[in-house]
Amino acid sequence: MTKDHKDAPMLIAGAWRSSKNQHPIVDPYRGDTVGASAQATLSDLEDAIAAARKGADAMAAMPGHERQNRLQKVAGRLAAEKSEIAKLLSRESGKAVRDSQGEIDRAVDTFSLSAGEAIRIEGRHVPLDGSAMGAGRYAFLLRFPVGVVAAITPFNAPVNLTAHKVAPALAAGNAIVLKPPPQTPLAIQRMIEIVQEVGFPEGALNVVHGGAEIGKALVAHPGVDFITFTGSTQAGTAIKAGSGLKRVALELGGNGVTIVHSDADITAAATACARNSMRLAGQSCISVQTVLVERSRFDAFVAILLDKVKELKLGDPLDPATDVGTLIDEAAAKRVESWVDDARKNGAKVLTGGVRHGAAHEPTVLVDVKPQMEVVCNEVFGPVVSILPYDDLSEVVDFTNRSRFGLQCGIFTASNQTTFDLVRKLKTGGIIVNGTSTWRTDQLAYGGVRDSGMGREGPRYAIEDMTDQRLVVFNL
Ligand code: SIN
Repeated sequence: MTKDHKDAPMLIAGAWRSSKNQHPIVDPYRGDTVGASAQATLSDLEDAIAAARKGADAMAAMPGHERQNRLQKVAGRLAAEKSEIAKLLSRESGKAVRDSQGEIDRAVDTFSLSAGEAIRIEGRHVPLDGSAMGAGRYAFLLRFPVGVVAAITPFNAPVNLTAHKVAPALAAGNAIVLKPPPQTPLAIQRMIEIVQEVGFPEGALNVVHGGAEIGKALVAHPGVDFITFTGSTQAGTAIKAGSGLKRVALELGGNGVTIVHSDADITAAATACARNSMRLAGQSCISVQTVLVERSRFDAFVAILLDKVKELKLGDPLDPATDVGTLIDEAAAKRVESWVDDARKNGAKVLTGGVRHGAAHEPTVLVDVKPQMEVVCNEVFGPVVSILPYDDLSEVVDFTNRSRFGLQCGIFTASNQTTFDLVRKLKTGGIIVNGTSTWRTDQLAYGGVRDSGMGREGPRYAIEDMTDQRLVVFNL
């Protein structure tokens, strides 16, 4: 693998394919070009889907133990190349290398967990003797691969979030057409090479690079059976509208609400919120964006969080001591800057940060924010956390459930009663107790409600989505 420049060609029917149209990949911290991806035409896309249709037949015929074995080998190879892939990921994304290494560890888990699930795809017996008509007959619900999965993946955790689509799709016996993120295809490219080197049937994994036009044609194509997408709510809405009657799994945005109740361990809560609002420079759908703190503990919480945020080192993504790297590009950092400026103009107080340096934005803590400000009601996707006081838990429930997002939230409390009251009332896809909204291991069912999307990721749940149930009735 070359360290200084990497190409990301298309992959169609087992062969790498270049293109006259190359999209440069620019390191957002250093400003140099680190690689290029080969942009697909609509004709390349047709070829990729035709190859996937053939690959799907071959994958459906491959026994579970072989799928398991191959996926486990991919996990091993990724682990062996962790350090090199993490560096490449930090170069193309500006992500602190410690975060990149953590992401590769998680991608290893995602392949390994998918390998385990490849031999646990079970059906079930359906008792028919509950009706007189069914007596004497036996029914079974069996699961079969859907066929061709279209996967579109995001720039923020590109390797692991692509692993979350590719590994379960192969584990379930499907073929895939993958469209990687235009900004960060290079570390993914190495993962794809590993999948190819380990050896899956021709056409099992196909890759096309491109923008909205290719994405739109991919999801609308009749040769695709299932769509899995991670990205913005806006793009997810367009995909659902443009995909006809195909089933879709959409993992979209969030606003990372974390609740700190009066009986919580304030130091533990503030320490976790400080780190988890700034991890990946806040570019995670579950990043802690809004912390609601019971009023009597508000000042103490803010003081500890502020100290912890000020300790975080903003800097060179390749420096192992760096906590916070850049955002994906300067435009993203300027957008975050404008939201912070807007909040400030409307009465918010910036306790630290609030300054942009090129594509980087300083870790920023806001108080005196209002629910209608962009930094509160929309997804910031930057290193910004807002802290609001509350008097009564009903305000917390209203705030969380009124939000357009409902991905994950965190609750810090010492009380089981409070925990269960909130678990019953908070309408989000996941609730992390005595932890922040930013918590995920890769076997979990992960996904949201409302504008945060539909369907659940995590190999076991993705495999459920990527298989069709077939009812078989025996008349014996
Ligand atoms: C995301 O939804 O942004 C990914 C979060 C994660 O996998 O940690």
